[in-house]
Amino acid sequence: MSVERFPGVHRAEERVIRPMQFTDLEAVAEIERRTYTMPWSPAVFSGQLARETAVCFVCEVDHRLVGYLLADMFVDVWHLMNLAVDEPFRRRHVAADLLEAYFGLTERHGHRGHTLEVRVSNTAAIELYRSFGFVSTGVRPRYYSDDREDAAIMWKDWEGETA
Ligand SMILES: CC(C)(COP(=O)(O)OP(=O)(O)OC[C@H]1O[C@@H](n2cnc3c(N)ncnc32)[C@H](O)[C@@H]1OP(=O)(O)O)[C@@H](O)C(=O)NCCC(=O)NCCS
Repeated sequence: MSVERFPGVHRAEERVIRPMQFTDLEAVAEIERRTYTMPWSPAVFSGQLARETAVCFVCEVDHRLVGYLLADMFVDVWHLMNLAVDEPFRRRHVAADLLEAYFGLTERHGHRGHTLEVRVSNTAAIELYRSFGFVSTGVRPRYYSDDREDAAIMWKDWEGETA
């Protein structure tokens, strides 16, 4: 999917949200390994990035890749599949900027809405998603295979104009 860049200057730093490229995958995979107990492999990122329907963004702060977001459309619903910010850069609205870019792109064309799964203990992510209008719609019991934690299912309606 073709997207423009979303440049911005925050607190005397240069911050850019731009489409992910294959050359980003090493840096993305490093953050992924530091972040998750069950990290995606580089091959999974690569496969996702190659998909025509996928939306994949990274955030760079002063030319350092510090966060990423991957989503994909299945039938008429967007699935937010991965969102992570490198730990030293958290609580600086990097995830919020990635989500703004994602909604800026996906809200242009009609669809049913957005969904995602998140660990029920992941307060940071749940608060973030709530602040963007997601609501909890159910639970997938024992969803995560490492420790069998439940996943909360979250949903957000499409907010564009219906034809
Ligand atoms: C969840 C995550 C992506 C948030 O990234 P971030 O860049 O730190 O988030 P932001 O700074 O954009 O936060 C925006 C808002 O989300 C909420 N939020 C973010 N982190 C929070 C926390 N630790 N506790 C409570 N609320 C939080 C707040 O409302 C925040 O706004 P505020 O700072 O003005 O109060 C980050 O913590 C992360 O990478 N976690 C590990 C990976 C992960 O859990 N990903 C989600 C999987 S579903």
